[in-house]
Amino acid sequence: MGCAALLWGWLLLGCSWGSAPPGVSAAALLTATYVLDDASGPGRQFDGIGAVSGGGATSRLLVNYQEPYRSQILDYLFKPSFGASLHMLKVEIGGDGQSTDGTEPSHMHYENDENYFRGYEWWLMKEAKKRNPKIKLIGLPWTFPAWIGKGENWPYDYPDVTAYYIVSWILGAKQYHDLDIDYIGIWNERAFSSKYIKLLRYTLDKHGLQQVRIIASDRLWEPISFVLLLDSELHGVVDVIGAHYPGTKTVPNALLTKKKLWSSEDYSTFNDEVGAGCWARILNQNYVNGNMTSTIAWNLVASYYEELPFGRCGLMTAQEPWSGHYKVEAPIWITAHTTQFTQPGWSYLQVDGHLEGGGSFVALTDGLGNLTIIIETMTHNHSQCIRPPLPHFSVTPQRATFYLKGSFYMVETLQVWHSRLGFESGNSTLFQQLHPVKVWKGSFSLDLSVDEVYTLTTLKTGQKCGCPEPPPPQPFPSNYKDDFNIRNPPFSEAPNFADQTGVFEYFINASDPGDHVFTLRQVVVQRPITWASDADQTISVIGNFQWVNMTVTCDIYIEKRRDGGVFVAGRVDNGGIYVRRTKGVFFWVFADGTYRVTGDLAGEEILMKGLSGVRDNAWHTLTLNIQGTSASGLLNGYPLWENVTISKPSNGWAAIGTRSFEFAQFDNFHIEAS
Ligand SMILES: *[C@@H]1O[C@H](CO)[C@@H](O)[C@H](O)[C@H]1NC(C)=O
Ligand SMILES: *[C@@H]1O[C@H](CO)[C@@H](O)[C@H](O)[C@H]1NC(C)=O
Ligand SMILES: *[C@@H]1O[C@H](CO)[C@@H](O)[C@H](O)[C@H]1NC(C)=O
Ligand SMILES: *[C@@H]1O[C@H](CO)[C@@H](O)[C@H](O)[C@H]1NC(C)=O
Ligand SMILES: *[C@@H]1O[C@H](CO)[C@@H](O)[C@H](O)[C@H]1NC(C)=O
Ligand SMILES: *[C@@H]1O[C@H](CO)[C@@H](O)[C@H](O)[C@H]1NC(C)=O
Ligand SMILES: *[C@@H]1O[C@H](CO)[C@@H](O)[C@H](O)[C@H]1NC(C)=O
Repeated sequence: MGCAALLWGWLLLGCSWGSAPPGVSAAALLTATYVLDDASGPGRQFDGIGAVSGGGATSRLLVNYQEPYRSQILDYLFKPSFGASLHMLKVEIGGDGQSTDGTEPSHMHYENDENYFRGYEWWLMKEAKKRNPKIKLIGLPWTFPAWIGKGENWPYDYPDVTAYYIVSWILGAKQYHDLDIDYIGIWNERAFSSKYIKLLRYTLDKHGLQQVRIIASDRLWEPISFVLLLDSELHGVVDVIGAHYPGTKTVPNALLTKKKLWSSEDYSTFNDEVGAGCWARILNQNYVNGNMTSTIAWNLVASYYEELPFGRCGLMTAQEPWSGHYKVEAPIWITAHTTQFTQPGWSYLQVDGHLEGGGSFVALTDGLGNLTIIIETMTHNHSQCIRPPLPHFSVTPQRATFYLKGSFYMVETLQVWHSRLGFESGNSTLFQQLHPVKVWKGSFSLDLSVDEVYTLTTLKTGQKCGCPEPPPPQPFPSNYKDDFNIRNPPFSEAPNFADQTGVFEYFINASDPGDHVFTLRQVVVQRPITWASDADQTISVIGNFQWVNMTVTCDIYIEKRRDGGVFVAGRVDNGGIYVRRTKGVFFWVFADGTYRVTGDLAGEEILMKGLSGVRDNAWHTLTLNIQGTSASGLLNGYPLWENVTISKPSNGWAAIGTRSFEFAQFDNFHIEAS
């Protein structure tokens, strides 16, 4: 097909791109027409595209990046007309328990405790707001501190306590960080309680938080939809039905509720081009197939050790604060196709968005004459998400002719942004601006190939920056020390330690004579209301998963407890939701004056044991040395045990931790590894 053959005013883009693939003549292309008209009024209101930080600890390493890299990453995520330009940020309300890739601290570890400066979600929300004051904020708990359940692993026995706890978090966000939380959830992917949801609404209102909207129940469409249809009081207090991984479909009951329908957690896919294909497909099809008006990715940024569960399932990757290296992955630019050209408050046009040759489109308007059309032609193999399974479908090259009617009849040109995922061929194009399309008598045509995304829009504000390259990747430093004296305000955790059970916080003991004023302290003293299978021991991992040989040294302090105990470990091979099955080489000392060497965190695989003379309320120095198949341990610099044979694991992180949920302190941590 030659350019001259195209009528003036029809899309001339076919000259350089979008033309029929070799061997397929233009005449053979499937051709179909689509009408975009607002005469019968707008469709559903669009609520925005967002991403989750947390659920859990997914932004852990981000906070330790040096400037300017940290700000560059934040710009790619939040800055309008720049990169992903997200409309919404959903954060975990830390509950001290394991929530997938780590634990996040609660603002109330204990009943009489309140602190709104723990963790990094406050900071992240502020950084997001700084860049986009209109960004919507959502909070959702995965776990709760133990006192909420008064000993039961359940947050609804005392719904007034739980509501008070959640509302405190919202009030604290305002009081200490001037953050307005827009939406609040119930309990991630777990049961809901109608009584609790009503009490939550009541408690919000009582504290002047009428504007905070409730999302329920961050699990499946049912049973919440069914219950909303039966219980009119509940129907009156729930604003949004949030379903997870809906596979772009909704259910009749959800539609009958007439509530806003959101995919309140989705994506969760490795962030290569197939991940980008998944994201492109669901961003459109969650609306086209399932009437959903918001899609929220888990997770925002892969800032956790890659070997933890669901490594690199973020919109971009920033998992090396020690080198400053990060990667703006393809899903960022797929996000931009929608986010840079729409805003929450726009409306979808009422049109069946299925393309005849496969793929989909959505059309949105601000009601002021602006129009944005997003088209995707993702093929099955190239757009599978991690879940649910994707039924087979086919997509072929096709010509789409759009007729603009109603308010859009007078549109003369549309800006064009294009991506093509190249997959194996490696020649992808991501978010490139092409020549504008001339609309002639309300119509234009587009030749679509497969695995493409187009945005056609009246808005001229789109941007793809030519930003500086980040520094090259580097492994975690092989000689690493932290005496916990130099802190990284405003954070409560030491750099690069990734808590997997329990919470390890900076601690100041002002009455210490001098050696151990600034320490790291494990502070969770009761098993939290769990979301995953937290270990019975606490553990925080650090370093390079590929490490084989290492010497880990750390000063330890068991706080007044006869059955207390702590460990240092190497070759630690697991974490996240699998933390209970963690193996490694663990060197434990106990307050009863004994020590053990075990091959697992659970302490069942005993490799060596004996007397150490360690006691509580005193500082000791532990050294664990692992070389090849042999390990040895020193106490206060003197050999305690040696020649313990290690067969597996062959490599892993270093770690510190405690025997149970108990207070303990750590100081002068040092690893030398290879
Ligand atoms: C839901 O989406 C389907 C498919 O696009 C559409 O036919 C239907 O009218 C929508 N229903 C509601 C209630 O929005
Ligand atoms: C489109 O949006 C821009 C920017 O928000 C606004 O200035 C303009 O009035 C809107 N309408 C049209 C028809 O461009
Ligand atoms: C899709 O993937 C399957 C399994 O990897 C493969 O057998 C099939 O040929 C692929 N289809 C296309 C169209 O690439
Ligand atoms: C990728 O690039 C190669 C070489 O430039 C070209 O032959 C091929 O057609 C391209 N593939 C696609 C899908 O455009
Ligand atoms: C603080 O240091 C003093 C003096 O060494 C000690 O007695 C006390 O137990 C320490 N407190 C904690 C919580 O570690
Ligand atoms: C680990 O130590 C063993 C024994 O000293 C040595 O043979 C091996 O090469 C070392 N491996 C690495 C990766 O340093
Ligand atoms: C450990 O092994 C070394 C080298 O084989 C040997 O010299 C030493 O006596 C052993 N120590 C013990 C306690 O068995």
